[in-house]
Amino acid sequence: MMDGILDLQKKALEELDTIHDRNGLETFRIAYLGKKGLVTTWMKKLSALAPERRPEAGRLANQVKMNVTRCYEEAKERIALQKEKVESFLDVTLPGRRFARGSVHPITKVTQEICRIFVKMGFRIVEGPEVEWDYYNFEALNIPKDHPARDMQDTFYVSDNVVLRTHTSPMEVRVMESQTPPVRIIAPGKVYRRDSDVTHTPMFHQVEGLLVDKGISFSDLKGTLTSFVHQMFGYETALRFRPSFFPFTEPSAEVDIRCVICKGKGCRTCSNTGWLEILGSGMNDPAIYKFVGYDPEVYSGFAFGMGIERVAMLKYGIDDIQLFYKNDMRFLRQF
Ligand code: DAH
Repeated sequence: MMDGILDLQKKALEELDTIHDRNGLETFRIAYLGKKGLVTTWMKKLSALAPERRPEAGRLANQVKMNVTRCYEEAKERIALQKEKVESFLDVTLPGRRFARGSVHPITKVTQEICRIFVKMGFRIVEGPEVEWDYYNFEALNIPKDHPARDMQDTFYVSDNVVLRTHTSPMEVRVMESQTPPVRIIAPGKVYRRDSDVTHTPMFHQVEGLLVDKGISFSDLKGTLTSFVHQMFGYETALRFRPSFFPFTEPSAEVDIRCVICKGKGCRTCSNTGWLEILGSGMNDPAIYKFVGYDPEVYSGFAFGMGIERVAMLKYGIDDIQLFYKNDMRFLRQF
């Protein structure tokens, strides 16, 4: 009978070793330790023993019950731990999850590049309002009320006297109004015109430049803009100054660069001229000094303005301006 209980213990402990889940463990508990389980049933049989053998057999039976119970508890812990391990398993060999990294928008990039070139030459960066008074956008730039540039087809009017600025030139007036020469500024920012096709968007970007001091001449304008073009497009890039007209400059010149696509041979991009216009410029018309209180007998200066999208399109060979504003990752990732 004593051997019987020890056999039972051996069998129980061996079986416990083969159990790896909670269901198996519960089946085991019922089979051995439950009310009708093998261990319990066996203990009941003790009463059939002769009284003098009962104490020893009882002690042994209790020992077996405690052993089996302890091993059962240990198995329970082992299985719980295993489950936790499986659930929190970290496979360090799996490829990592990539973070989508943003990039600088090409327009921002070109703006920064233009600014960097002029800052090196001593220009200061200024910014101003996009919703602008008619006075700064037109009037003080010598663009009177009946000037064609004010046409409703080009300008977004907010009210009779307020517009969305159509160029960055109003910053020339704002700066001159608030400071006496020497003045050397560039003003990047958004401008607005009622226009939309492959080379025009209703909102686009310009950079304005202004330099006023004593003894400034057209050669300063030429030298400054030539240096800019060389730094921006490469020292081998040919450029030319072509006579033009702007109400706020006299004389005025537009700057063309040798076509970056055909190198001057003539192609669709340059309309077979071999040249591409990149900016407008000129000597400050004394008429605008009148508005800001500068003495044209003492001071002279030059100004220029360029479209940033256009510079970016020429620099990177992009033929559709709308691409800048479609947020197509395949386009943006290239910069
Ligand atoms: N504001 C002119 C435009 O948007 C560009 C321009 C021309 C700016 C000549 C200037 C300048 O400062 O001198 O078309």
